[in-house]
Amino acid sequence: MIVLGIESSCDETGVALYDRDRGLLAHRLHSQVALHAEYGGVVPELASRDHIRRLPQLIAQVLADAGIARRDLGAIGYTSGPGLAGALLVGASVAVSMAFALDIPALPIHHLEGHLLSPMLSADAPAFPFVALLVSGGHTQLMRVEGVGCYRLLGESVDDAAGEAFDKTAKLLGLGYPGGPELARLAETGIPGRIPLPRPMLKADHLDFSFSGLKTAVLTAYNNGNRTEGGRADLAAEFQQAVVDVLVAKSIKAVERSGLETLVVAGGVGANRHLRGALDEACRQRGWRACYPEPELCTDNGAMIAFAASLRVTAGLAGPSDQSIVVRPRWPLEDDRVQSAWG
Ligand code: KG4
Ligand code: ZN
Repeated sequence: MIVLGIESSCDETGVALYDRDRGLLAHRLHSQVALHAEYGGVVPELASRDHIRRLPQLIAQVLADAGIARRDLGAIGYTSGPGLAGALLVGASVAVSMAFALDIPALPIHHLEGHLLSPMLSADAPAFPFVALLVSGGHTQLMRVEGVGCYRLLGESVDDAAGEAFDKTAKLLGLGYPGGPELARLAETGIPGRIPLPRPMLKADHLDFSFSGLKTAVLTAYNNGNRTEGGRADLAAEFQQAVVDVLVAKSIKAVERSGLETLVVAGGVGANRHLRGALDEACRQRGWRACYPEPELCTDNGAMIAFAASLRVTAGLAGPSDQSIVVRPRWPLEDDRVQSAWG
């Protein structure tokens, strides 16, 4: 069965085709980074309008790329939440109306489910069960993943997400949007430890995170004589190191406690090279596996949505098909509409 996936939760329009038997057939992405850059962050109304502009042509393009006709589609998966309400509504409206016209099911997919299953799209895919570290612009969570629709939250950020902390810190260091990659680039020219920053909740026994204090510590240090080029680079390097130290320590603790031996890393911050290096090394020392999505599938994309929808159809979790267009801007992954019964 071929599934069309549509992602429009934030500032990326992603469309993909996934075939249960042949894998990923095509995927295309339009990033709105240039559109929002002059505002220093995502402007929701502009995001919605741009999704409307891009979606029809992206859908036509992936069908052409794969040599597939609309009538060959077996289902359509779309991001139903969490995300920006208007942006989600665009993808949901297109998906539900197209599915209605083709008389096929439309599946509302949880954005984070897409992210945490995305490493399974790579050639060397991990097998269930595993521990997942989800680090995006909106979420920092550790989950135990038993199977499709079986996700248990182990710990999460009590304030800013890791990506949000990267973005906010980048902004106060005068870097462009999106801040994560820019800050990572600046960090390469600095030396961590020269301007010490805290490692929030590093020693705590639980698996929760806190990143908002770190950004405040950067601001204080920045205003206390570190506004030079070298000072900014050292601050970026130490900030990145602090986030990586905490993410690695908590992830290792989570895997240890789970009794499992596979750590899956997903979400935009998972593209950070320094984080990957540290997680790889920590897992290697313990004889565990660390798995990541293909680099192009780390940030938001349609492939992870098509894939999650395909797995849900196969697992019998498609749910009753109706034509209502529902988006859930705030939607916990623990919701019954995402979780299947624990087997
Ligand atoms: O998963 P994602 O594309 O969108 C959300 O669902 O949030 O993640 C975007 C986040 C942004 O905060 C961005 O700054 C961060 O991922 N990011 C990075 C890197 N690449 C993207 N953070 C640190 N280092 C990177 N290389
Ligand atoms: Zn995302």
